[in-house]
Amino acid sequence: MSDNQSDWEVLPDASPLQDAVSLPCGLRVPNRLVKAAMYESLANFGGGPPNSQHFKLYARWGNGGWGMLISGNVQVDPLHLSLGRDLVVPEILSPETIAPYVQLRQAMTAGTSDTRARPLTILQLNHTGRQCPRIMGGRGIFGGAPSAASSVPVRSRDKRDGLVSQLAFWFMFPTPKTLSIQDIDAVIERFVRGARLAHEAGFDGIQLHASHGYLISGFLSPKTNLRTDRYGFPKELTIIESILNRIRATVPQPFAIGIKVNAADYVSGSITEEQALDHIREMASWRMLDFIEISGGDYERPDFAAAASPRQAFFAKFSRLALKTIPQGDGMPVIMLTGSLRTKAVMTRTIRDGHAHLIGIGRPAVICPSYAKALLEPPSAKTAEDDHFPVEFPDPPSPFWLKILNIGLIGTGLNTAWHCALMWRMGNDYWNGLTIGSRKGGWSSPVPQIGGIQALLELWRPWPSFNHALIIVIFFALFAVILFK
Ligand SMILES: Cc1cc2nc3c(=O)[nH]c(=O)nc-3n(C[C@H](O)[C@H](O)[C@H](O)COP(=O)(O)O)c2cc1C
Repeated sequence: MSDNQSDWEVLPDASPLQDAVSLPCGLRVPNRLVKAAMYESLANFGGGPPNSQHFKLYARWGNGGWGMLISGNVQVDPLHLSLGRDLVVPEILSPETIAPYVQLRQAMTAGTSDTRARPLTILQLNHTGRQCPRIMGGRGIFGGAPSAASSVPVRSRDKRDGLVSQLAFWFMFPTPKTLSIQDIDAVIERFVRGARLAHEAGFDGIQLHASHGYLISGFLSPKTNLRTDRYGFPKELTIIESILNRIRATVPQPFAIGIKVNAADYVSGSITEEQALDHIREMASWRMLDFIEISGGDYERPDFAAAASPRQAFFAKFSRLALKTIPQGDGMPVIMLTGSLRTKAVMTRTIRDGHAHLIGIGRPAVICPSYAKALLEPPSAKTAEDDHFPVEFPDPPSPFWLKILNIGLIGTGLNTAWHCALMWRMGNDYWNGLTIGSRKGGWSSPVPQIGGIQALLELWRPWPSFNHALIIVIFFALFAVILFK
């Protein structure tokens, strides 16, 4: 597959993107296009259930022609949030606590009357582990350290980052404490409760977030798993196997279970391509998974949020190897590739050349919630020129202060914040998202202008409550003291 997404080629009319895919659990994905998991930042500060803003946002995606909709990560532990406004699995499952998730699930499919075209609905479950930050991580200001596979703190590994970056990492991420065996048992049960929540709310399945450096991913990498017990190397997959065994024993079929894993991290001391492929081979052999999504990076090296780049092409090469490494059919999971896939030509080649079975799309789905519909439209004489969508997806702002600070993680945060600001607008009817309106991939209306600082502030939106405002002011004050002392 070429990395050059602008070299449009003429493709035959029938697009493989329209083909349905059958999952081992018996469920069917009606087409190849998947809205990848994206944290929405729409729940209450401190974590909570989905609300009317989520319902509006997901209804737009529900109308967007996607074969599968994966929710943003839902935290299984309220003391381990990502950026503060996370969806959280309720501590007790009751009709009242499940009801908002039922509404979320209904919003995802309300737009599709044709049952054969109905998107599969997947709840992504996560535990943020060592990447759970101070203050907005759910433990308050003095809430102590998060838990992780081993006590390895998150620190900048990018050689281009300087002292300021090291300080920022040190401030944001306290050294985590190592989970005991009993703690791990409790974490496993939290994931099982998340799967029960998904099932009882009517979702078609769940996805375990085992990439991007969060808790499960931390177990898979020799950089962050230094354990010598039954969860350490060479048995680093034990936690995943235990979670899957427990979920399969608890939730009736058909229930789709996916997992998102990192391709090799290409960082010294971290997971290698061979190890990552071994993981995929072994996980597939358990015959408990329906799909494996390939992504990459963590907070120390946030490749998953990068723009199209040669490193992103690593994911495509890796997913091809992954697809080849596991036998097809016979209860084997399908492979989903996510990251910088933008145009119909590249997506079509990805499927045709055997790099993946499913195409994961993140950021473009925020700009254009019905992008899948547009991609799936059969080409006509009139639209043939547009068929490969030479679409310019607008980039988040790149303010001068970001270049001065030169902290990769803040760049990633800004990218996330900017997309969350757009999701917030969609969830509040301030903006409908774009539709591809005219020839040559023109947009129907402009994307709102949102600056860097504004995007970061909107990520937390402190203004409805004095307490939240206070927390944010303290956060920025502490941050400023560390940066400039
Ligand atoms: C705003 C935002 C939030 C994200 N949240 C999640 C998440 O909750 N879970 C996850 O697995 N990946 C998350 N990601 C990563 C995306 O799923 C995807 O892997 C990444 O954006 C690369 O795909 P893309 O180039 O199509 O955007 C997020 C990305 C963005 C931009």
